Amino acid sequence: MSALKISNISKHYGAIKALNDVSLTIEPGQVVGLMGDNGAGKSTLVKVIAGNFAPTHGEIYISGKKVNFHKPLDAQRAGIEVVYQDLAICNNLTAASNVFLGRELTRQLGPIRVIDYAAMRTKSAELFARLKSETRPRDLVRRMSGGQRQAVAIARTLLSDAKIVLMDEPTAAISVRQVAEVLNLIRYLRDQGISVVLISHRMPDVFQVADRIAVLRRGTLVASKNVSDSSPEEVTGLITGAIEAA
Ligand SMILES: Nc1ncnc2c1ncn2[C@@H]1O[C@H](COP(=O)(O)OP(=O)(O)O)[C@@H](O)[C@H]1O
Ligand SMILES: [Mg+2]
Repeated sequence: MSALKISNISKHYGAIKALNDVSLTIEPGQVVGLMGDNGAGKSTLVKVIAGNFAPTHGEIYISGKKVNFHKPLDAQRAGIEVVYQDLAICNNLTAASNVFLGRELTRQLGPIRVIDYAAMRTKSAELFARLKSETRPRDLVRRMSGGQRQAVAIARTLLSDAKIVLMDEPTAAISVRQVAEVLNLIRYLRDQGISVVLISHRMPDVFQVADRIAVLRRGTLVASKNVSDSSPEEVTGLITGAIEAA
């Protein structure tokens, strides 16, 4: 059964049709590269799936069940996690505190409950080890490399037992070596059976890691096909409109 099925999704912002009748199915453990020019509707699609706002039309199914998200927490509870471009992590906190942000572990201390930093460090060390990341729980995020920050964001998705991870331009602002780390993290998620939607402008990244490629042009899905049946040239043509659809 598909992990995620979006069916005839449209999203209008007033007169702007950001998404027109988009349908897409993603299997468990599949990595979909979502590509398109600026303004094509990629982030809007992510936000609809993640419960930031309701679509104007259309339905979303998770593992075959129709869902109606009213807020991001609804999507999160259904197993959807988003890694945003800015990663939405706090520079002034440690890696461990970021992993548990908003869901801190607590313990009883006499009559009160206090945050259990030791337990959060132990659990996040475990997650970083699983991700083969050198990130240490006590490290301050502001001193970390881009790749380590990604590991923090992804550890958060593992903590929440996500089924679907949506990544909006995760490799836009990081170095080549860090890009390789992020691609490895994506492969790790895939190997756990987690589905990943990777939004990226970087053709080589998408072709290295994705199983399928979906292309949006001005809010319309103009292709959704196996990477092995496509090429960077075709995708470029689809993005620009030189190729109508494929
Ligand atoms: N909150 C908003 N209000 C009005 N228009 C928006 C809003 N967010 C995005 N848009 C418009 O919707 C279209 C798709 O935007 P977006 O999803 O951000 O594209 P992408 O992520 O592919 O660059 C663009 O025309 C953009 O200007
Ligand atoms: Mg965007």
